[in-house]
Amino acid sequence: MNQVLSELMAGIKATSDIQKDVVELFNFHRHQDIAEHTIKVAYEAKKLACKFGVDEHKAFVAGCLHDLGNLFSDDEKITTCNKLGINILPEEYIAPFLLHAKISKVMAMEMFSVEDKDILSAIECHPTLKRNAGILDMVLFVADKISWDNTHNQFFIEDISNGLEKSLERGAFAYLKYLYINREDMKVFHSWTLEAYNDLLAKLE
Ligand SMILES: [Fe+2]
Repeated sequence: MNQVLSELMAGIKATSDIQKDVVELFNFHRHQDIAEHTIKVAYEAKKLACKFGVDEHKAFVAGCLHDLGNLFSDDEKITTCNKLGINILPEEYIAPFLLHAKISKVMAMEMFSVEDKDILSAIECHPTLKRNAGILDMVLFVADKISWDNTHNQFFIEDISNGLEKSLERGAFAYLKYLYINREDMKVFHSWTLEAYNDLLAKLE
């Protein structure tokens, strides 16, 4: 394991209970807020997985591990990516917060031995989604947004819920559309988000 990651795990005794281990890890690093959000997302992802016919266990694991990268502060994210050999896009230099997802993917592989491609993909694209997103990608993407507290999701939560009544794609598209409409007001509009938006727009027409 890369040293930058093994240092984070020092003092943590990993068990086979992923929920317990992740909560312990966040709490150990005084991130009770992320621990709480993580567990909410994991159970929400499990619920959506059941509704839309995708593996519930995979959804739960993806939810548990999706925000591990936020154990690094935004100031540390670019350096951490360089240490871990993660490719950084131009827009991610402007908004390094977005890099937490790519870091989480590497942490899931190295710290929790996750090899499943669907889980790793969902973790990697959970803030932005991506072109040709799979079911698990969309499950985690949506579960994350609807688990944010009301001050953060009040402007799109209803549209996502209405979309989900029709399909998972329409639920995911509702949030992509919100981002697209507000793209000028955002620090960056990620290229993966634009690709996901155009992709689902064409598929749902
Ligand atoms: Fe996240």
